[in-house]
Amino acid sequence: MQFIDLEKQQKKIRKQLDKRISNVLDHGKYIMGPEVFELEEKLVNYTNTKYCISCSSGTDALLIPLMAKNIGIGDAIFTTPFTYISTAEVIKLLGATPIFIDIYPKTFNINPDLLEPAILKSIKMGLKPKAIIGVDIFGLPARYRKLERICNDNNLFLIEDAAQSFGSSIRGQKACSFGDVATTSFFPAKPLGCYGDGGAIFTDDYQLAEKMKSIRIHGQGTDKYDNINLGINGRLDTMQAAILLTKLKIFEEEITLRNKVAKYYIENLPSNLAPQHIPKDYISSWAQFSIITSSNEARSKIIHNFTKNKIPSMIYYRIPLHLQKVFSDLNLKPGSLPVSETIAKKIFSIPMHPYLNTSLQDKVLNTLGS
Ligand SMILES: Cc1ncc(COP(=O)(O)O)c(C=O)c1O
Repeated sequence: MQFIDLEKQQKKIRKQLDKRISNVLDHGKYIMGPEVFELEEKLVNYTNTKYCISCSSGTDALLIPLMAKNIGIGDAIFTTPFTYISTAEVIKLLGATPIFIDIYPKTFNINPDLLEPAILKSIKMGLKPKAIIGVDIFGLPARYRKLERICNDNNLFLIEDAAQSFGSSIRGQKACSFGDVATTSFFPAKPLGCYGDGGAIFTDDYQLAEKMKSIRIHGQGTDKYDNINLGINGRLDTMQAAILLTKLKIFEEEITLRNKVAKYYIENLPSNLAPQHIPKDYISSWAQFSIITSSNEARSKIIHNFTKNKIPSMIYYRIPLHLQKVFSDLNLKPGSLPVSETIAKKIFSIPMHPYLNTSLQDKVLNTLGS
């Protein structure tokens, strides 16, 4: 059994992939070829946003808007500690200070009620509050209505880190369309993944989109030998765009299948295990199917049974970011963000992909119950 089965997907679209890839080999425009622009247009239509800037990874997708907003030393950026390192890494890379805000115990997303006290505290510490990065953990969007209100009231910039949630929605509004800027990742294991690294940035703000396009290619002006901003080499490869265009064709169908798989798990989970809570009106893209066990020991026992039965599992995330060595300068001790710390001890993820059949799911469920 695979944790994420990319082989089944590839078999289904192999002919179309081969055709798209050989088109790129024929025209030879490997950097910023026509597929890159075709993909950006399709992604804008899919997410119902105005501008899409494809880029080299979900990490650079976060870095570029922060650079465009001149984030740097003395700035405070608020985000969750229950996420992949990239979300906070980019803040520190620019010299700014990440302020970690605890999460809800059932959705595992940032708890907006904790933001305003943290904003006030950061000002007392001499920092300038600049932005919030909401993360759509495991494919479930964060509470953007609340986050948007807090950003409006406090003059903050809102970024949606939708690295895991491309294809999800709230009340029909697609992920990648919340906040001032949204970012996603096309890492192979993501709901929409390429065969290498890739990412994209979305915004409705024309000026910002232009600046981010410039930063993506070494801060270019009229061309890459005219440099008007500090930038990076942040382009998406044409080949990856061609692969994504092929995968996008079956993407909606895959989101439906992922939701079917998730429903079957939820309906048949043993009663001592709790799946991630999906609030009413929210649709997840189920990048991961994560479960809370009753204790750290219970998790170890289940994972041991999984290994014995050759069922893959993963722990996202074993160490919340505020306790990672790289952020030790923040002096956040164990106990400072109790919900994230408790979840980190009890959570783990089971196989999830669109092509998981019920007999494989039954094997997972039986092992969970044993
Ligand atoms: C929440 C989150 N943000 C950002 C990223 C970074 O994406 P990439 O690996 O494409 O740089 C990831 C990747 O796992 C992620 O899960």
